[in-house]
Amino acid sequence: MDANDMGSDLKDILVSEDEITTRLDELAKAIDAYYAGEEVLMVGVLRGSAMVMADLARKLHTPITMDWMAVSSYGSGTKSSGVVRILKDLTEDIMGRNVLIVEDIIDSGLTLSWLVQNLTSREPKDIKIMSMFRKPEAVRSMEVPVDWVGFDLPDEFVIGYGLDYAERYRNLPFVGTLAPHVYEK
Ligand code: IMP
Ligand code: MG
Repeated sequence: MDANDMGSDLKDILVSEDEITTRLDELAKAIDAYYAGEEVLMVGVLRGSAMVMADLARKLHTPITMDWMAVSSYGSGTKSSGVVRILKDLTEDIMGRNVLIVEDIIDSGLTLSWLVQNLTSREPKDIKIMSMFRKPEAVRSMEVPVDWVGFDLPDEFVIGYGLDYAERYRNLPFVGTLAPHVYEK
């Protein structure tokens, strides 16, 4: 899917495909340097982090295992509430292992903060967090300390590179905003 398929539904491109690739190269270097000589279990949070998991994993030299969790955070429309339920739990036992949570975007940070607490109780050796995108609210509230961030975004609802609106647009290679008329459909 690309901008042409979006027609007038696309407002602006905020982060281009090239910018994503370049930034992921930098993040992979930093993450490899951190784990030097160790292995890491990458935990992707479904469904939004599918793209960043796939792209980041291929850039890492560190030996990795991939696992996935799906959580639902009760909330209305485009805001989360912090009340989280596990829809799909990890397959791997994380006790004594290096865990890298891979997130698509952090907004209030409530989902992630719950997840970190939950995973910490399973006694991993180490937990780190990588998020491809971050909203201003997450920076203000400092709900969770994020170890690696791809891009800080303005306080707007965004789509693409894994992020959806009503399950659409996840397969856009860039991140953008939607024209107002889309929300009125
Ligand atoms: P938080 O709990 O408020 O940090 O919400 C985080 C989750 O909400 C992310 O993992 C996304 O699934 C979703 N989300 C937050 N902001 C956006 C956005 O701008 N576009 C699409 N999904 C978003
Ligand atoms: Mg998510």
